[in-house]
Amino acid sequence: MSNFNQESVLSVHHWTDTLFSFTTTRDPSFRFRNGEFTMIGLKVGEKPLLRAYSVASANYEDRLEFFSIKVPDGPLTSRLQHLKQGDEIIVSRKATGTLVIDNLEDGRNLYLIGTGTGLAPFLSVIKDPETYERFEKVVLLHGCRRVAELAYGEMITEKLPNDELIGEYIRNQLIYYPTVTRDPFRNRGRITDLITSGKLFGDIGLASLDPAHDRVMICGSPALVADTRTLLNGKGFVEGNHGEPAQFVVEKAFAER
Ligand code: A2P
Repeated sequence: MSNFNQESVLSVHHWTDTLFSFTTTRDPSFRFRNGEFTMIGLKVGEKPLLRAYSVASANYEDRLEFFSIKVPDGPLTSRLQHLKQGDEIIVSRKATGTLVIDNLEDGRNLYLIGTGTGLAPFLSVIKDPETYERFEKVVLLHGCRRVAELAYGEMITEKLPNDELIGEYIRNQLIYYPTVTRDPFRNRGRITDLITSGKLFGDIGLASLDPAHDRVMICGSPALVADTRTLLNGKGFVEGNHGEPAQFVVEKAFAER
């Protein structure tokens, strides 16, 4: 049996010149935990060209969704960005990853810190009813350079609160906090700076980060991951992993090319 399924593209959405997302069919045998990533790609000649992508849809949905950058000379994304409805893509049968709530100890508030396409795994996590059963408040932080890059904002603020399965959880427990660094916007600044200055906590009405009751997931560029890890370690947070749940978990965002 092959390690890959062939899926067909159902829809494509271009957010900006550099960001797009697409949905595909989902083989019923493909199982994953919300927050995990898998390998996806295209056949180039006889060879599959694959990259790791977080699954942006929830594991109970019948389509798969992926959120990607476009890099003009990137081996995969230069091709993927031209996907059209009906095109075929290859999706691994296996998913894995660190950003799953089982890798966190119990706590009161869950902070999801994503920059750029690092938002993707959290789109899956915020659609999981179990997330809201384990945590009282779920704070989704999305940091981007530009306002136009705040993808999925409307889905989070307009669509999810009315969702049959999770609408009530979203309305009562999710706090969405988008922030940009290079455009005027209601929330401005790097997520790390907003945490350090305390501005974030004033804005959302929660006490500042404390390993006693807060849990954190991080997904973004290697620099974002490194700086946020240092910040959390400085506050006494311990990093968790598979089989060793702790107070925060990290993954770098994938597909830089
Ligand atoms: P900035 O504009 O100040 O670099 P990128 O597209 O480079 O991944 O950045 C996405 C967002 O994450 C931007 O708002 C960027 O801010 C911010 N960012 C980049 N590196 C870091 C970092 N080391 N710590 C905190 N925020 C970062």
